[in-house]
Amino acid sequence: DQVTARKVWTEEQVHFTLPKRDDYSHKGTHGKGLIVGGSREMPGSIAMTALSSLRSGAGLVSVGTVNEVIPSIVSHCAEATFIPLDSEKGVITGSQCLDYSVYNAIAIGMGMGRSEDTAELTRQLIKEANCPVIVDADGLYHISDDLELLKQREFPSILTPHPGEMSRLTGIPVKEIISKPFRIAEEFSKTYQVHLILKGPFTIVTDPKGKQWVNTSGNAGLAKGGSGDVLSGILLSMVMQPQLLVEALANGCYIHGKAADNLIVNKHSKQDLLATDVIQGLASVFRTFS
Ligand code: APR
Ligand code: MG
Repeated sequence: DQVTARKVWTEEQVHFTLPKRDDYSHKGTHGKGLIVGGSREMPGSIAMTALSSLRSGAGLVSVGTVNEVIPSIVSHCAEATFIPLDSEKGVITGSQCLDYSVYNAIAIGMGMGRSEDTAELTRQLIKEANCPVIVDADGLYHISDDLELLKQREFPSILTPHPGEMSRLTGIPVKEIISKPFRIAEEFSKTYQVHLILKGPFTIVTDPKGKQWVNTSGNAGLAKGGSGDVLSGILLSMVMQPQLLVEALANGCYIHGKAADNLIVNKHSKQDLLATDVIQGLASVFRTFS
């Protein structure tokens, strides 16, 4: 597999496709997103997803997570609202309070943990949510043995694996995924009718028909825990804006990488760059396109 120039999602395409914010818009125009995940051991993960989605233009962001991590998330993003979920030992056990029908898009899995309860929650959400659902991290872990679920969905499913997660989803060794990522991504997206974002030093976006775009922005400063959580937040916001889904996803990947690229020009290095810096860096990217 090769990155052919025709597949690269360019800055020009971002300029052309990224929706401008209407002067007369209100928060409803820009979508109400739900983020489900988090646990006592990984409270930062979902905080970064929430903050990055707010920094990417979402109208409203709600976070469904364990009660005890809510104060720490609030301290990073006062603009989010919360749905405290039942939990045991710092891990979500129930989702009775979640009404999936009131959201324009949902992201699930970041820092959620891998219990039987979180597995059940993931499956149930995927079955019931009548809006686009982004599945990341532990959410991907949970659906790996139950991919048929995805075929039954009437609304878009967006999966965001890195090669290790893709390996678990497909049963194909990581080495093979890295050597022919386009073919494997296309086959998977068509089979399960999903939008797939196969992450890495370059990231391939594939739609359910097999149409593919490659994002080449980003640098090794992103090779750190938390970068993926930030991407999930950006994508959550992007899919709620009025644009073609595959383009929204490609734009999200571009913006994530571009924020990191801008930051290592003046302010940071690949060594010290943190995922939270990338959220700060979103400003420089969005200012270019507005
Ligand atoms: N060049 C460009 N981009 C990169 C590079 C690189 N060298 N390395 C990583 N990235 C980008 C990827 O494209 C992706 O968008 O950084 C992001 C990394 O995402 P993840 O691999 O999901 O990493 P992370 O944020 O650490 O996720 C941690 O995911 O694997 C699960 O269980 C794990 O909970 C953990 C969570
Ligand atoms: Mg990840």
